[in-house]
Amino acid sequence: MTHVDRSPFRAGLLENRTVLITGGGTGLGRSAAIKCASLGARVGVVGRREDPLKATAGEIEKAGGRAAFAPCDVRDAASVVAAFDSIEASLGPVNSLVNNAAGNFLCASEDLSDNAFDSVVKIVLYGTFNCTRELGRRLIRAKQEGHVLAIVTSYAVTGSAFVLPSAAAKAGVLAMMRSLAVEWAVYGIRLNAIAPGPFPTEGAFSRLMAGDLEKEALDRVPSKRFGEHDELSNLVAYLLSDASPYQTGD
Ligand code: HXC
Ligand code: NAP
Repeated sequence: MTHVDRSPFRAGLLENRTVLITGGGTGLGRSAAIKCASLGARVGVVGRREDPLKATAGEIEKAGGRAAFAPCDVRDAASVVAAFDSIEASLGPVNSLVNNAAGNFLCASEDLSDNAFDSVVKIVLYGTFNCTRELGRRLIRAKQEGHVLAIVTSYAVTGSAFVLPSAAAKAGVLAMMRSLAVEWAVYGIRLNAIAPGPFPTEGAFSRLMAGDLEKEALDRVPSKRFGEHDELSNLVAYLLSDASPYQTGD
C-alpha cells in the first residue's frame, strides 16, 4: 500500500529552528518534541526526571532527527542556565522555546499549604520566567530573532475552581507573554500562548480526572471529544514556523 503523508506541513518546515521544550519527556511536551523534530528542528528536552527525557530524545534520534536532553528543575534559575548550556553544546544556539512544564493537582483552596501553592506557582510562573528570560538574554546578546510559546490552559482566562495555584500562575504566564511580545518586538522575538482544553495525558488525567470528573469534562467540550496530541503539536509547529511571522502576543 502506498504511504499517504497526512502532515499538513512541508518537510523541513522547522529546519532552521533549535527548540528547547520544558517538560518534553512526557505528555504534550513529548508530542510537540517529536513533531518539531519530524519537521527538521533540532530539539532539546528538559525536565526533572532523566529517564523520560532520554527516551524522548532517543525516539527522535532513532527516527533520524537531532535531539538532546538535560535534566533541569525550571524553578531554579541556575539549573535553567546549565540546561541551556548543555543543550546548546549539543545542538547549537537555541532560537525557540516551548514553556510546557507544569505542576497541578486538585485541592480545595482553603486546604492548600504554603508549600503546595508555592510548588505549582514556582513551576508554572517562575519556571516560565526563568526559561523565557534565559532565551531572551541569549538572543538579544547574539542579535538573533526567536520564538517563545507557553502552553497555558483555557482557564487561564476564566479561572477554575480547585486548581487555584495553576489558574493563577497560568494567568500570570499569559500576561508575561503579552507583556514581552511588546517589549521584545524590537528584537524580533515573538511570544504566543496556546490555551488547550483537555488532552488525555497520564500527567494531567491521573491528577485531575478522578471519578466522574473525566466524563464531566468531556460533557463540557462542545465537540464531545478530547483533543488529539497532533492537534496541539501542529499548532506548536505553525506558531514556531515562518508561516506566522506577524503573530505575537496572541
Ligand atoms: C494538596 C498537595 C497535593 C494534593 C501535592 N501537594 N499534591 N496538596 N493536594 N493533591 C502538596 C504537598 O503536600 C506539598 O506541600 C507540596 O504540594 C509540594 O509537594 P511535593 O510532592 O513535595 O512537590 P514536588 O515533588 O515538587 O511535586 C510538584 C507537584 C507534582 C506539582 C506537587 O504533582 C508534580 O510533580 N507535578 C508535575 C506534573 C503535573 O502536575 N502534570 C499535570 C499538568 S496538567 P507540604 O505542605 O505538604 O510540604 C495542567 C493543566 C491541565 O497543568 C488542564 C486540564 C484542562
Ligand atoms: P505532564 O505530562 O505531566 O507534563 C508536565 C511536564 O512538566 C512533565 O514532563 C514534568 O517532568 C515537567 N515538570 C514538572 N515540574 C517541573 C520542574 N520543576 N522542572 C522541569 N520540568 C518540570 O502533563 P501534560 O498534560 O503533558 O501537560 C503539558 C502542558 O500542557 C502543561 O503546561 C499543562 O498545564 C498543559 N495543559 C495540559 C492539558 C491536558 O489536558 N493535558 C490541558 C491544558 C493545558 P518531570 O516531572 O520529570 O519534571
